[in-house]
Amino acid sequence: MSDLATRLQQLQTDALAELAAAADARAVNELRASLFGRSGRLTQLLRGLGEVDPAERPATGKLANAVREALETAIDDRLADLVQADAGARLAGETMDMSSPGRPWRVGHLHPTMTVERDLREIFHAFGFEVFEGPEIETDAMNFEALNIPPDHPSRDLWDTLYVAETGAPRQPAADGTILRTHTSPVQIRAMQALTPPIRVITPGRCFRYEAVDASHGFEFFQVEGLVVDRDTSLADLKGMLEEFARALYGEATKTRFRPGYYPFTEPSVAFDVNCLVCGGSGCAACGRSGWMTILGAGMVHPSVLRAGGIDPDEFQGYAFGMGLDRITLLRHGIPDLRLLMSADLRFLEQFPAGR
Ligand code: PHE
Repeated sequence: MSDLATRLQQLQTDALAELAAAADARAVNELRASLFGRSGRLTQLLRGLGEVDPAERPATGKLANAVREALETAIDDRLADLVQADAGARLAGETMDMSSPGRPWRVGHLHPTMTVERDLREIFHAFGFEVFEGPEIETDAMNFEALNIPPDHPSRDLWDTLYVAETGAPRQPAADGTILRTHTSPVQIRAMQALTPPIRVITPGRCFRYEAVDASHGFEFFQVEGLVVDRDTSLADLKGMLEEFARALYGEATKTRFRPGYYPFTEPSVAFDVNCLVCGGSGCAACGRSGWMTILGAGMVHPSVLRAGGIDPDEFQGYAFGMGLDRITLLRHGIPDLRLLMSADLRFLEQFPAGR
């Protein structure tokens, strides 16, 4: 028997004894490294195989393989045992009380304004409208110029519009006319440019104005815009649509009226009123004793706005309407102050769990 063979057998005996003494998985892994690692004890012995007398080499090689396999198997088995014993110990320390009640999940719900938005999406969906959304950060060109609002129009006044600042010059409006949109009407232009008539879209979204914040004004609010572009569309279609819409939102008995209005991007323009939702029409403080509340502005899309949208006004006509969601939300729930809607106060929001 070669000298190396003797040493291999000795190593196997030693290693198995050490393995038996190893207390945990870490000790076993350390032992494995000390045997099979780059300069491990077994690795080094195997390097000597080339120097064994050629006559004894085959037998010694066979023995070396057997030793390696025996040690590998013993280590793997020991590790498996240790892992199992560990899990068993942990389980034994755990008790589960099957009768204790579960921990309740805190389920959130939609913000009341978003519930109104969803209701509007649903109503207009039934009327064949699809949703088309536009960016909150707009260009002056889209928000004003394309909508027939010339540079000297009051709604472009610095006091009404939030301008995005020029890079590095916080007090100077960006030269490219980047602003926060003051209404959802620029999405009319985007929809006309992206779609081919017949177009029937609503464009819900957040808008911004430089306002002194009080109970009925916010610098941030929500609108839903509607746009229809088709052949032979008339003011009669607009009236019929809005009357149906008011009945869908506020009930069959809702009374409506149209008054002349003015917007640069519609001609003719109208204001659309429903009977006061607080007093029902008899006159109260909420409706200024008139019995009516204006819920939206609307009109026939101005020919130059159609052109800005890439549509030939001799071939197509359109109507548009725009309404604020925040006021609808206040009236629906009898909320006295608009600021509550943006307060992120859970004591307030949790009173409106609808739309879960
Ligand atoms: N954009 C108008 C506003 O913010 C509302 C409107 C939309 C009026 C579409 C007419 C047509 O007041």
